Amino acid sequence: MLLLPMKTVIEPIKIKSIEPIPITTVGQRKKLIKEAFYNTFYLKSENVTIDLLTDSGTTAMSASQWGRIMEGDEAYAGSKSYYKFENAVKGFTNYKFIIPTHQGRAAERILFTIIGGKGKAIPSNTHFDTTRSNVEYSGAKAMDFPTKIGIMPEVVDDFKGNMDIEALEAFIKKTGKENIPLCMLTVTNNSGGGQPVSMKNIRDTKSLLKKYGIPLYLDCCRFAENAYFIKLREKGYEKKSVKEIAVEMFSYADGCLMSAKKDGLSNTGGFIGTNDEKISNKAKELLIITEGFTTYGGLARRDLEALAVGFEEVFDENYLRYRVEQVKYLGDKLIEAGVPILVPTGGHAVYLDAKRFAPHILPEYFPGQSITCEIYVTGGIRVVEIGSVMFGRKDKNGKHIAPPMELVRCAIPRRVYTESHINYTAEAIIEVFKSRNKLRGMKIVWEVPFLRHFTAKFDYI
Ligand code: F0G
Repeated sequence: MLLLPMKTVIEPIKIKSIEPIPITTVGQRKKLIKEAFYNTFYLKSENVTIDLLTDSGTTAMSASQWGRIMEGDEAYAGSKSYYKFENAVKGFTNYKFIIPTHQGRAAERILFTIIGGKGKAIPSNTHFDTTRSNVEYSGAKAMDFPTKIGIMPEVVDDFKGNMDIEALEAFIKKTGKENIPLCMLTVTNNSGGGQPVSMKNIRDTKSLLKKYGIPLYLDCCRFAENAYFIKLREKGYEKKSVKEIAVEMFSYADGCLMSAKKDGLSNTGGFIGTNDEKISNKAKELLIITEGFTTYGGLARRDLEALAVGFEEVFDENYLRYRVEQVKYLGDKLIEAGVPILVPTGGHAVYLDAKRFAPHILPEYFPGQSITCEIYVTGGIRVVEIGSVMFGRKDKNGKHIAPPMELVRCAIPRRVYTESHINYTAEAIIEVFKSRNKLRGMKIVWEVPFLRHFTAKFDYI
């Protein structure tokens, strides 16, 4: 690789096809957010200027992915596209069985239907919301063991996504290994701020689990970003390629679940990878009942082509450098203006620390939701609350139990926005921060029992 003697990190891509973005007024947005019940999931994308709701399935695909889409072999069974996909996935996971699904949560539902159920517990560094719901829906308990530093948004550390190994071991002893069918590790840790997990922590988690005969599965939707952070921050990995690092990460696990809508650099897809033939057979059975045949799993075969290419492109270290630098660029602009964010910035998003941003709003009045609405009104930017709305619970007496952190996630879609879009985003968030005293608490006026944040309706108190 030719290394240029330049400091500026450029987008290592140029624009070939464009899509106009809507520009609205503050007056219009006040009305629109009210009509959306103050929940950004109800906004129509035609009314969103910069969409930072998620980095999932929002990737801009490359010319070579679009080209390969034309090569999709739409055969129901034994499609050529499936074998290209399988080959690409085995290239970094080395798992024996690869079962495609239409997205990550389909893989979760299938796996936890097989191994979950009442009396079982699934520990993790931190489960993502759909993972937690699929575990709980099966009747099992979803347990989180982040490290102490992992839940301190203001403390800088290299691997804040790590598992607390001691707490995990205490939990195994208390619960009994026979009640823990497997342990998950989310790389990077999305709900914990997009923070990476170190190779040492993956290795240590594995050796602890081995002692008790419990398999380890990675929730690996952002594995390439995690591997890149290992290269940047963990001793001994500086000279390894990101692909080599990824291969080592997967080598310590017995299987994985992936939402390929993230580091698959595609708009849809997912899979289960496993070395366990029994799990694989059972998963294929369930797959056929609700998703589709084993060589497409609910996807169009052309999507498998796009993924096969995505799994090559994601290892491009110029891409990964630009990716994490773009996230950091937004984070640095906010820090410079005094906006409290979770530090250091992770792989796919900047997380505002709502507790410090709006300390006058108690967690039960959803400070993150209030900030989210104001960011939309100010700049037409759509972000999402990751705090009491998403993970809050009620105790027996109806009292609010808050999660450890109240965050607002500004997720950056891959290869979509330019530096001026990021500048504009920073400006809007800084505006909201300057008038933070005017932010008001909120209440939920309607909700469902599982994954309420997607559809809950809010109003100001
Ligand atoms: N695991 C993690 C860590 C995730 O971030 C997601 C999705 C899933 C599993 C489920 O995958 O959406 O394909 O069904 N995260 C998206 C997000 C929705 O916005 O962070 P899915």
